[in-house]
Amino acid sequence: MGVTNAPKFEGVLPSGSSKVQMVEAMFDRIAHRYDLVNRLMTFGLDRRWRQVTVRALELPEDCLVADLACGTGDLCRGLDRARLRPIGFDISAGMLGAARGAGRLVRADVTRLPAPEGAFDGATCGFALRNLADLEAFLAELARVVRPGGRIALLEVAEPTSPALRVGHRLYFDRVVPWIGAALSDGHAYRYLPRSVAYLPPPAALVGAVAEAGFPDARRRTLSGGIVQLIVGTRS
Ligand SMILES: C[S@@+](CC[C@H](N)C(=O)[O-])C[C@H]1O[C@@H](n2cnc3c(N)ncnc32)[C@H](O)[C@@H]1O
Repeated sequence: MGVTNAPKFEGVLPSGSSKVQMVEAMFDRIAHRYDLVNRLMTFGLDRRWRQVTVRALELPEDCLVADLACGTGDLCRGLDRARLRPIGFDISAGMLGAARGAGRLVRADVTRLPAPEGAFDGATCGFALRNLADLEAFLAELARVVRPGGRIALLEVAEPTSPALRVGHRLYFDRVVPWIGAALSDGHAYRYLPRSVAYLPPPAALVGAVAEAGFPDARRRTLSGGIVQLIVGTRS
């Protein structure tokens, strides 16, 4: 498949099992203020992005949907409001512990899901692709657990293509977000956040990898001027 989310700056950002451990410990630490910081740093836009993600599944009521790397369960709650049946999976006990009213939650590594083949009618994943140590293993697992005809919607940060927006976005992400994070939560974690964008493959490579994993109609769209991307696909 050939897609990798190895960091562009080896040595500065962790990879492999040290990344898995670092990410799990970091989310355990920031879990109690995660929702608050999210709302503030996105000016509440994250709610709208999640609504768009749930709608993009285009699944009928009662479908069973895995929310992978569910964190504090925001997408699970959105899926539930859309009368879908979510099950959230996350590696961080702290994030799962901070999830309120998110329904059924399972502590698991999303590259090794405790679910049979074709178990789900759909799957979502919000802002986690860059946090995974092995993106290719995740996509293979996604294809394994989603039934043929099932739908996926993957939400992730992105970099705007417009040069002016890119500069403003960089300034906000590199300076303001770490400042908000340090004031309200954990400075280290919110300095890592902007740097973790370096783990993301370029858009065409990411869409190509999703298509090749078993979602041949994979399509990407951007939201809010390109600061967020949504990849949608159907399991072949
Ligand atoms: C930025 S948070 C996103 C949480 C939630 N999806 C949201 O939209 O707010 C990333 C989440 O990915 C989880 N995560 C990272 N690596 C994981 C893995 N290998 N397996 C399961 N969860 C993982 C973290 O614990 C964290 O909760």
